[in-house]
Amino acid sequence: MKAQVKIEKIINPFKKVITVSSDKSLSIRCILLSSIAAGKSKIFNLLESEDVTNALKTVKKLGVYYRKKNNCFEIYGVGINGFKIKKDSVLNAGNSGTLARCILGLCSGVRGKIKLIGDKSLTKRDFSRVIKPLKLFGVNFGSNNIKLPIKLTGSNLLRPIKYFEDKGSAQVKTCIILSAINTPGITKIKAKKSRNHTELLLKYLNYPIKIEKTKKYDLIYISGLNQFGSFEYEVPGDISSAAFFIVLALLSKNSDLKINNININPFRIGIITILKRMNAKIKIINKRNYKGEHIGDIRVKSTKNFKSINCPENLNSSAIDEFLLIFLIAAKSKGVSKFKNLGELNKKESPRLDIAVKFLRMIGIKVIRKNDIIKIFGNPKLKLNKNYHVKSFLKDHRIFMLSVIAALTLGGVWKINDKDAINSSFPNFLKICKKLGGKIN
Ligand code: S3P
Repeated sequence: MKAQVKIEKIINPFKKVITVSSDKSLSIRCILLSSIAAGKSKIFNLLESEDVTNALKTVKKLGVYYRKKNNCFEIYGVGINGFKIKKDSVLNAGNSGTLARCILGLCSGVRGKIKLIGDKSLTKRDFSRVIKPLKLFGVNFGSNNIKLPIKLTGSNLLRPIKYFEDKGSAQVKTCIILSAINTPGITKIKAKKSRNHTELLLKYLNYPIKIEKTKKYDLIYISGLNQFGSFEYEVPGDISSAAFFIVLALLSKNSDLKINNININPFRIGIITILKRMNAKIKIINKRNYKGEHIGDIRVKSTKNFKSINCPENLNSSAIDEFLLIFLIAAKSKGVSKFKNLGELNKKESPRLDIAVKFLRMIGIKVIRKNDIIKIFGNPKLKLNKNYHVKSFLKDHRIFMLSVIAALTLGGVWKINDKDAINSSFPNFLKICKKLGGKIN
């Protein structure tokens, strides 16, 4: 059995308050940083999904003890460059690009050899983006492989680097910052803007990290080998998970949804900025600050008259995981929407740009694609009444969830394979759909 779900009815109007699963980016960063803190950190409300469990298992293989007590993970940090590995350790990052890229940076100073592996999807992804800066630090890689499995030998003679991160990738930036912590001297990164959870956590920990902001770039200076103490952190909800329910509420009739306690880091809320420009009724309320991060509740109301957008490229990074959902709104909008410079989308858990084009055409939407630019010809009256089968998408969690949201709002009879894909980021996704009234078999 392919763990398939079947959906034959659109969802009835709903008025509800929900919480979604905890932030994945922050959960992984809390584990990685607490593993090199001095002493016992306490992380509350950690996301319990496969990507995060793999992060816990990975630091355990590096000699870090942890245990769960009620809603709290206690992680016993071993200090900077304190990892102890058994001979020829194999670390398995599963499906998680964030874990895989960041762990390589965290291990730059490890004494011994490490082999990093992952699942079928991760094994197709490119690691040259982190291998390049890590080689400059002095890390040794067993071969010229830019794909998993990758073998790394840490160095105790690391040297600080100057690096230009031009992709707007937070994974690359974090990998370099983590390696810089293991390295004496000052590492300088000129980074295209992207989510800054790592920098904010380090600032909260009083780590000597300095950031100068220019319009397009952040200039980041990290002074290495400064031991920081253990910490406590309560992880807020994930905007990338909330996004599915934002779009569900927008596309459902007469519905009103409040999603509580969401991380609204300015480099994560591109979806809200973009959808508001398309007329979506979304508000962020109860804004507050938590240890440097912005948190808020999100209020969404059904919206009828979406208008198309010519999406500014500078919003790409802050909406990078949400474009599939934004495309669905574009499909229901009046006019032609245009999105540019989306090459990074094809470098995710699956080639999401390619899959999005196929998906939109499958639901009868005209799409013109030229390299990394797409134009979506919206149809505000879009209603589906055929059979749709979403089969093969490298078990990409976000493609599965997108398909469920399309089925619950546009009509038709849907069979969607690989429901287990949600376990990597949002295990209770289907439960919440059902709580809101979705009929899913
Ligand atoms: C992430 C960064 C983004 C994002 C991913 C999580 C992170 O990837 O797509 O889901 O936690 O740093 P890139 O760094 O490749 O843009």
